[in-house]
Amino acid sequence: MPPITGHSVLIIGGTSGIGFAVAKLALAAGASRVAIASSNSTRIKTALQDLRSEFPNAQILGHECDLSHDDVEDRLETLFMEVTATADHDDDDSFLLDHIIYTAGRPVVKPIHDITLPFIHQSGHLSFVAPLLVAKLTPRFIKSRYTSSLIFTTGRISEKPTPGWSIVASFATGLHGMTRNLAVDLKPVRVNLVSPGATDTELWGANREKIKEAMAKDSLLGKVGTAEEVAEAYIYLMKDTNATGACVSTSGGILLQ
Ligand SMILES: NC(=O)c1ccc[n+]([C@@H]2O[C@H](COP(=O)([O-])OP(=O)(O)OC[C@H]3O[C@@H](n4cnc5c(N)ncnc54)[C@H](OP(=O)(O)O)[C@@H]3O)[C@@H](O)[C@H]2O)c1
Repeated sequence: MPPITGHSVLIIGGTSGIGFAVAKLALAAGASRVAIASSNSTRIKTALQDLRSEFPNAQILGHECDLSHDDVEDRLETLFMEVTATADHDDDDSFLLDHIIYTAGRPVVKPIHDITLPFIHQSGHLSFVAPLLVAKLTPRFIKSRYTSSLIFTTGRISEKPTPGWSIVASFATGLHGMTRNLAVDLKPVRVNLVSPGATDTELWGANREKIKEAMAKDSLLGKVGTAEEVAEAYIYLMKDTNATGACVSTSGGILLQ
């Protein structure tokens, strides 16, 4: 498959978990410029230290961008302008990005009888609204060719229902349709989706070990996914210049159970 050597990659949600693992694998695969963005400056600093010590020759940048607010479009535009402004302007489009990865998210689960209109809006903000606005801005900040790609993140809830998860599932499943239609609207830039199953990351919070054990016990492979395993799907989608409007599921066989 075509390499991503020398490519420029922005990972929104790149300070921990799956996004951080994508940053590491992209650098290991030869990406020369990687920018990570998240809402928390301390986490950005720590992630940058880790990445820079492992990849001292790459250009690695961190950007603070909290997407949870109503002015999310302005914040995204500022982020894209900052990321592309730090690049060299050698030839025409070399300052633009090759890949934009979106892994930001923090699902909140509420039973259907407890939901309210503000809760529905709030639930979709980071998982659905922000990705659409990223897509709107993408053509201005990405190289307009089929080697470029935009990759979103959904989850196995979009493919297999779980009691109590209707709101999260609604937006997660919507991302499949969004991805397919954006692949048409943003061509020649490719637009794809990754659907992780239970993955051992910081997202699980204080109960991480307990969740890991319980999920592993119930799973087909007897284990949960690691962030590094799931990150391989993003690297594949960056490299496969024939893939667009596609979803890669990396969920340890949960869909078969
Ligand atoms: N882990 C799983 O089991 C699993 C399964 C299926 C799907 N997923 C999905 O995969 C995606 C990545 O999850 P993960 O497990 O890697 O979680 P994670 O380790 O918590 O990473 C989430 C990333 O999103 C960033 N983020 C959160 N709120 C943000 C905001 N308001 N503005 C900007 N950035 C924000 C976080 O950074 P800051 O906190 O610094 O802002 C972090 O970099 C999520 O959408 C999640 O729903 C995860």
